[in-house]
Amino acid sequence: MTKLDILVTRNIPGAALKLLRERFKVDIWQSDEVIPRSTLLSKVKDKDGVLCLLTDQINKEALDKAGERLRVVSTISVGVDHVDTVECTRRGIKVGNTPDILTAATAELTVGLLISISRRIVEGTHAARNGDWGAWKLMWMCGPTLDGATVGLFGLGRIGTAVVKRLNAFGVKKFLYNTANKKDDNFENNLGVQFASFHDLLHESDFVISCCALNKSTAGIFNKDAFEKMKSSSIFINISRGGVVNQEDLYYALSHNIIRGAGIDVTTPEPLPTDHPLFSLQNCVVTPHIGSATEKTRMEMTMLAVQNLICGLDGKEMPAEYKQ
Ligand code: GLV
Repeated sequence: MTKLDILVTRNIPGAALKLLRERFKVDIWQSDEVIPRSTLLSKVKDKDGVLCLLTDQINKEALDKAGERLRVVSTISVGVDHVDTVECTRRGIKVGNTPDILTAATAELTVGLLISISRRIVEGTHAARNGDWGAWKLMWMCGPTLDGATVGLFGLGRIGTAVVKRLNAFGVKKFLYNTANKKDDNFENNLGVQFASFHDLLHESDFVISCCALNKSTAGIFNKDAFEKMKSSSIFINISRGGVVNQEDLYYALSHNIIRGAGIDVTTPEPLPTDHPLFSLQNCVVTPHIGSATEKTRMEMTMLAVQNLICGLDGKEMPAEYKQ
Protein backbone atom coordinates (compact mmCIF):
# COMPACT_ATOMS: atom_id res chain seq x y z
CA MET A 1 0.00 0.00 0.00
CA THR A 2 1.45 3.39 -0.89
CA LYS A 3 2.05 5.60 2.07
CA LEU A 4 0.40 9.02 2.43
CA ASP A 5 2.70 12.03 2.24
CA ILE A 6 3.11 14.31 5.21
CA LEU A 7 5.15 17.37 6.00
CA VAL A 8 6.68 17.84 9.45
CA THR A 9 7.86 21.42 9.80
CA ARG A 10 10.42 20.94 12.59
CA ASN A 11 12.62 18.40 14.34
CA ILE A 12 10.48 16.34 16.70
CA PRO A 13 11.50 13.73 19.28
CA GLY A 14 12.63 10.40 17.80
CA ALA A 15 9.76 8.35 19.22
CA ALA A 16 7.21 10.64 17.58
CA LEU A 17 9.04 10.65 14.26
CA LYS A 18 9.29 6.85 14.34
CA LEU A 19 5.52 6.56 14.72
CA LEU A 20 4.99 8.83 11.74
CA ARG A 21 7.59 7.06 9.59
CA GLU A 22 5.90 3.70 10.20
CA ARG A 23 2.76 5.01 8.55
CA PHE A 24 3.65 7.86 6.25
CA LYS A 25 6.20 9.09 3.80
CA VAL A 26 7.63 11.86 5.95
CA ASP A 27 9.12 15.02 4.52
CA ILE A 28 10.67 16.70 7.56
CA TRP A 29 12.37 20.06 7.99
CA GLN A 30 15.14 18.60 10.12
CA SER A 31 16.03 21.62 12.16
CA ASP A 32 15.19 23.27 15.46
CA GLU A 33 14.79 26.56 13.62
CA VAL A 34 11.64 27.76 11.88
CA ILE A 35 11.19 26.40 8.36
CA PRO A 36 11.68 29.27 5.89
CA ARG A 37 8.41 30.38 4.39
CA SER A 38 9.46 29.60 0.80
CA THR A 39 10.55 26.08 1.84
CA LEU A 40 7.27 25.46 3.63
CA LEU A 41 5.33 26.64 0.61
CA SER A 42 7.23 24.37 -1.75
CA LYS A 43 7.33 21.33 0.55
CA VAL A 44 3.65 21.46 1.43
CA LYS A 45 2.65 20.80 -2.19
CA ASP A 46 0.71 17.56 -2.62
CA LYS A 47 0.92 16.59 1.04
CA ASP A 48 -1.95 14.71 2.69
CA GLY A 49 -1.12 15.99 6.15
CA VAL A 50 0.95 18.64 7.90
CA LEU A 51 2.40 18.54 11.40
CA CYS A 52 3.30 22.11 12.26
CA LEU A 53 4.17 24.49 15.07
CA LEU A 54 2.75 27.84 16.09
CA THR A 55 5.50 29.58 14.11
CA ASP A 56 4.15 28.27 10.79
CA GLN A 57 1.42 30.31 9.15
CA ILE A 58 -0.97 27.79 7.62
CA ASN A 59 -3.03 30.40 5.85
CA LYS A 60 -4.86 30.48 2.54
CA GLU A 61 -1.58 30.82 0.65
CA ALA A 62 -0.17 27.65 2.26
CA LEU A 63 -3.43 25.77 1.77
CA ASP A 64 -3.50 26.78 -1.90
CA LYS A 65 0.08 25.57 -2.33
CA ALA A 66 -0.75 22.29 -0.61
CA GLY A 67 -3.52 21.60 -3.06
CA GLU A 68 -6.49 19.26 -2.98
CA ARG A 69 -4.84 16.34 -1.21
CA LEU A 70 -4.43 18.07 2.14
CA ARG A 71 -6.81 16.55 4.69
CA VAL A 72 -5.29 17.23 8.09
CA VAL A 73 -3.36 20.07 9.71
CA SER A 74 -2.12 19.11 13.15
CA THR A 75 -0.39 21.76 15.22
CA ILE A 76 1.79 21.13 18.27
CA SER A 77 0.09 23.95 20.16
CA VAL A 78 -3.19 24.73 21.78
CA GLY A 79 -3.39 28.08 19.98
CA VAL A 80 -4.59 27.89 16.40
CA ASP A 81 -4.35 31.57 15.47
CA HIS A 82 -1.59 30.68 12.95
CA VAL A 83 -3.97 28.34 11.10
CA ASP A 84 -6.79 29.65 8.94
CA THR A 85 -9.31 27.37 10.58
CA VAL A 86 -12.25 28.87 8.71
CA GLU A 87 -10.61 28.17 5.38
CA CYS A 88 -9.64 24.66 6.53
CA THR A 89 -13.24 23.90 7.47
CA ARG A 90 -14.45 25.27 4.13
CA ARG A 91 -12.05 22.95 2.33
CA GLY A 92 -12.89 19.93 4.52
CA ILE A 93 -9.44 19.92 6.12
CA LYS A 94 -9.44 18.78 9.73
CA VAL A 95 -7.42 20.75 12.27
CA GLY A 96 -5.94 19.19 15.41
CA ASN A 97 -4.42 21.00 18.38
CA THR A 98 -3.14 20.14 21.86
CA PRO A 99 -5.50 21.39 24.57
CA ASP A 100 -5.60 20.21 28.20
CA ILE A 101 -2.17 18.62 28.42
CA LEU A 102 -0.43 22.00 28.57
CA THR A 103 -2.90 23.60 30.97
CA ALA A 104 -1.03 22.78 34.19
CA ALA A 105 2.37 23.81 32.84
CA THR A 106 1.03 27.10 31.49
CA ALA A 107 -0.88 27.90 34.66
CA GLU A 108 2.27 27.17 36.64
CA LEU A 109 4.31 29.58 34.50
CA THR A 110 1.59 32.22 34.89
CA VAL A 111 1.87 32.07 38.65
CA GLY A 112 5.67 32.14 38.38
CA LEU A 113 5.63 35.16 36.12
CA LEU A 114 3.16 36.97 38.34
CA ILE A 115 5.25 36.43 41.44
CA SER A 116 8.50 37.20 39.60
CA ILE A 117 7.27 40.65 38.73
CA SER A 118 5.19 41.46 41.80
CA ARG A 119 7.83 40.27 44.27
CA ARG A 120 10.57 41.70 42.07
CA ILE A 121 12.52 38.45 41.87
CA VAL A 122 14.25 39.23 38.58
CA GLU A 123 14.95 42.84 39.56
CA GLY A 124 16.21 41.68 42.97
CA THR A 125 18.51 39.10 41.39
CA HIS A 126 20.00 41.75 39.13
CA ALA A 127 20.43 44.10 42.08
CA ALA A 128 22.19 41.40 44.11
CA ARG A 129 24.50 40.55 41.20
CA ASN A 130 25.25 44.21 40.47
CA GLY A 131 26.34 44.99 44.03
CA ASP A 132 23.22 47.05 44.79
CA TRP A 133 22.38 44.82 47.74
CA GLY A 134 23.39 46.93 50.70
CA ALA A 135 22.41 46.51 54.34
CA TRP A 136 18.91 45.07 54.88
CA LYS A 137 16.54 47.97 54.35
CA LEU A 138 12.99 48.07 55.56
CA MET A 139 11.19 49.09 52.37
CA TRP A 140 13.71 48.00 49.73
CA MET A 141 12.52 45.72 46.90
CA CYS A 142 8.99 45.64 48.24
CA GLY A 143 6.11 44.80 45.96
CA PRO A 144 2.40 44.04 46.08
CA THR A 145 1.03 40.81 47.50
CA LEU A 146 -1.60 38.41 46.25
CA ASP A 147 -2.86 38.06 49.82
CA GLY A 148 -6.15 39.96 49.96
CA ALA A 149 -5.85 41.10 46.33
CA THR A 150 -8.36 41.19 43.51
CA VAL A 151 -7.26 39.24 40.47
CA GLY A 152 -8.92 39.82 37.10
CA LEU A 153 -8.77 37.22 34.36
CA PHE A 154 -9.38 38.22 30.80
CA GLY A 155 -10.35 34.88 29.30
CA LEU A 156 -11.42 32.03 31.51
CA GLY A 157 -10.93 28.83 29.58
CA ARG A 158 -8.89 25.84 30.67
CA ILE A 159 -5.76 27.83 31.50
CA GLY A 160 -7.54 30.70 33.24
CA THR A 161 -9.48 28.21 35.35
CA ALA A 162 -6.28 26.40 36.31
CA VAL A 163 -4.68 29.74 37.24
CA VAL A 164 -7.58 30.56 39.57
CA LYS A 165 -7.27 27.16 41.29
CA ARG A 166 -3.56 27.70 41.88
CA LEU A 167 -3.86 31.32 43.00
CA ASN A 168 -6.53 30.38 45.54
CA ALA A 169 -3.74 29.08 47.73
CA PHE A 170 -2.29 32.60 47.93
CA GLY A 171 -5.23 34.16 49.77
CA VAL A 172 -6.68 36.13 46.86
CA LYS A 173 -9.80 37.99 48.06
CA LYS A 174 -11.74 38.22 44.82
CA PHE A 175 -11.46 36.76 41.33
CA LEU A 176 -13.10 38.72 38.52
CA TYR A 177 -13.28 37.46 34.98
CA ASN A 178 -14.36 38.71 31.61
CA THR A 179 -15.14 36.50 28.63
CA ALA A 180 -17.26 36.89 25.50
CA ASN A 181 -20.00 34.85 27.19
CA LYS A 182 -20.67 34.88 30.90
CA LYS A 183 -20.31 31.43 32.52
CA ASP A 184 -23.28 29.88 34.30
CA ASP A 185 -23.85 30.43 38.01
CA ASN A 186 -22.76 26.90 38.91
CA PHE A 187 -19.41 27.33 37.23
CA GLU A 188 -18.91 30.71 38.90
CA ASN A 189 -19.87 29.45 42.34
CA ASN A 190 -17.74 26.32 42.13
CA LEU A 191 -14.68 28.24 41.04
CA GLY A 192 -15.41 31.30 43.17
CA VAL A 193 -15.27 33.85 40.35
CA GLN A 194 -17.46 36.82 39.44
CA PHE A 195 -18.18 38.13 35.97
CA ALA A 196 -17.21 41.76 35.38
CA SER A 197 -17.31 44.04 32.38
CA PHE A 198 -13.90 44.61 30.79
CA HIS A 199 -13.96 48.13 32.20
CA ASP A 200 -14.73 46.99 35.76
CA LEU A 201 -12.21 44.19 35.60
CA LEU A 202 -9.46 46.64 34.64
CA HIS A 203 -10.63 49.21 37.12
CA GLU A 204 -10.89 46.93 40.15
CA SER A 205 -8.11 44.37 39.74
CA ASP A 206 -4.73 44.49 41.43
CA PHE A 207 -3.49 41.86 38.99
CA VAL A 208 -4.83 41.56 35.45
CA ILE A 209 -4.06 38.32 33.66
CA SER A 210 -4.62 37.89 29.96
CA CYS A 211 -5.27 34.25 29.13
CA CYS A 212 -7.66 34.61 26.22
CA ALA A 213 -7.35 33.30 22.68
CA LEU A 214 -6.14 35.74 20.04
CA ASN A 215 -8.94 36.55 17.63
CA LYS A 216 -10.54 39.56 15.97
CA SER A 217 -12.19 40.75 19.17
CA THR A 218 -9.13 40.37 21.42
CA ALA A 219 -6.41 41.66 19.05
CA GLY A 220 -4.79 44.76 20.56
CA ILE A 221 -7.37 44.97 23.36
CA PHE A 222 -4.71 45.81 25.93
CA ASN A 223 -3.98 49.28 24.62
CA LYS A 224 -3.51 52.77 26.07
CA ASP A 225 -7.17 53.00 26.87
CA ALA A 226 -7.13 49.71 28.77
CA PHE A 227 -3.92 50.47 30.68
CA GLU A 228 -5.32 53.85 31.69
CA LYS A 229 -8.34 52.14 33.23
CA MET A 230 -6.09 49.95 35.37
CA LYS A 231 -4.89 50.92 38.85
CA SER A 232 -1.48 52.59 38.87
CA SER A 233 -0.49 49.91 41.41
CA SER A 234 -1.59 47.04 39.19
CA ILE A 235 0.40 44.28 37.57
CA PHE A 236 -0.37 43.01 34.07
CA ILE A 237 0.40 39.45 32.97
CA ASN A 238 0.11 38.10 29.45
CA ILE A 239 0.47 34.41 28.71
CA SER A 240 -1.89 34.24 25.74
CA ARG A 241 -0.54 35.83 22.57
CA GLY A 242 1.51 38.96 21.99
CA GLY A 243 -1.15 40.17 19.58
CA VAL A 244 -3.62 40.97 22.36
CA VAL A 245 -1.32 43.78 23.54
CA ASN A 246 -0.35 47.02 21.91
CA GLN A 247 3.31 46.88 22.95
CA GLU A 248 4.05 50.57 22.41
CA ASP A 249 1.16 51.36 24.75
CA LEU A 250 2.41 48.80 27.26
CA TYR A 251 5.86 50.37 27.19
CA TYR A 252 4.33 53.81 27.69
CA ALA A 253 2.17 52.60 30.57
CA LEU A 254 5.12 50.92 32.31
CA SER A 255 7.53 53.79 31.81
CA HIS A 256 5.04 56.45 32.92
CA ASN A 257 3.78 54.65 36.03
CA ILE A 258 0.33 54.19 34.54
CA ILE A 259 0.60 50.59 35.72
CA ARG A 260 3.18 49.20 38.12
CA GLY A 261 4.60 46.22 36.32
CA ALA A 262 4.13 43.54 33.70
CA GLY A 263 5.12 39.95 33.15
CA ILE A 264 4.78 38.77 29.59
CA ASP A 265 5.55 35.37 28.11
CA VAL A 266 4.38 36.29 24.62
CA THR A 267 5.33 39.22 22.42
CA THR A 268 5.12 40.60 18.92
CA PRO A 269 7.32 39.64 17.22
CA GLU A 270 8.82 36.52 18.72
CA PRO A 271 11.65 36.55 19.49
CA LEU A 272 11.43 40.11 20.76
CA PRO A 273 14.55 41.96 19.50
CA THR A 274 17.08 42.37 22.30
CA ASP A 275 17.09 46.15 21.79
CA HIS A 276 13.32 46.37 22.33
CA PRO A 277 12.51 49.13 24.88
CA LEU A 278 10.57 46.67 27.06
CA PHE A 279 13.87 44.99 27.91
CA SER A 280 15.16 48.27 29.33
CA LEU A 281 12.51 48.36 32.04
CA GLN A 282 13.04 47.02 35.56
CA ASN A 283 9.30 46.68 36.00
CA CYS A 284 8.85 44.28 33.11
CA VAL A 285 9.73 40.60 33.06
CA VAL A 286 9.79 39.04 29.62
CA THR A 287 10.03 35.27 29.23
CA PRO A 288 10.51 33.65 25.80
CA HIS A 289 7.12 31.96 25.24
CA ILE A 290 7.78 29.11 27.63
CA GLY A 291 4.27 28.63 29.04
CA SER A 292 4.13 24.95 28.16
CA ALA A 293 7.86 24.33 28.40
CA THR A 294 8.16 21.36 30.71
CA GLU A 295 9.76 18.27 29.18
CA LYS A 296 6.71 16.18 30.03
CA THR A 297 4.27 18.65 28.50
CA ARG A 298 6.20 19.27 25.28
CA MET A 299 6.58 15.52 24.77
CA GLU A 300 2.87 14.95 25.39
CA MET A 301 1.95 17.80 23.06
CA THR A 302 4.06 16.25 20.31
CA MET A 303 2.53 12.81 20.83
CA LEU A 304 -0.99 14.22 20.85
CA ALA A 305 -0.33 16.13 17.63
CA VAL A 306 1.06 12.94 16.06
CA GLN A 307 -2.04 11.00 17.13
CA ASN A 308 -4.26 13.76 15.74
CA LEU A 309 -2.51 13.47 12.41
CA ILE A 310 -2.59 9.66 12.33
CA CYS A 311 -6.26 9.43 13.32
CA GLY A 312 -7.28 12.26 11.02
CA LEU A 313 -5.60 10.67 8.02
CA ASP A 314 -6.98 7.22 8.98
CA GLY A 315 -10.47 8.73 8.90
CA LYS A 316 -10.86 8.10 12.64
CA GLU A 317 -11.93 10.51 15.34
CA MET A 318 -8.98 12.72 16.27
CA PRO A 319 -8.20 12.81 20.01
CA ALA A 320 -8.23 16.61 19.87
CA GLU A 321 -9.89 18.02 16.81
CA TYR A 322 -10.21 21.80 16.88
CA LYS A 323 -13.79 22.83 16.26
CA GLN A 324 -14.74 26.43 15.45
C1 GLV B 1 1.41 27.89 23.09
O1 GLV B 1 1.38 29.07 23.10
C2 GLV B 1 0.40 27.08 22.48
O2 GLV B 1 -0.50 27.61 21.83
O3 GLV B 1 0.49 25.85 22.63
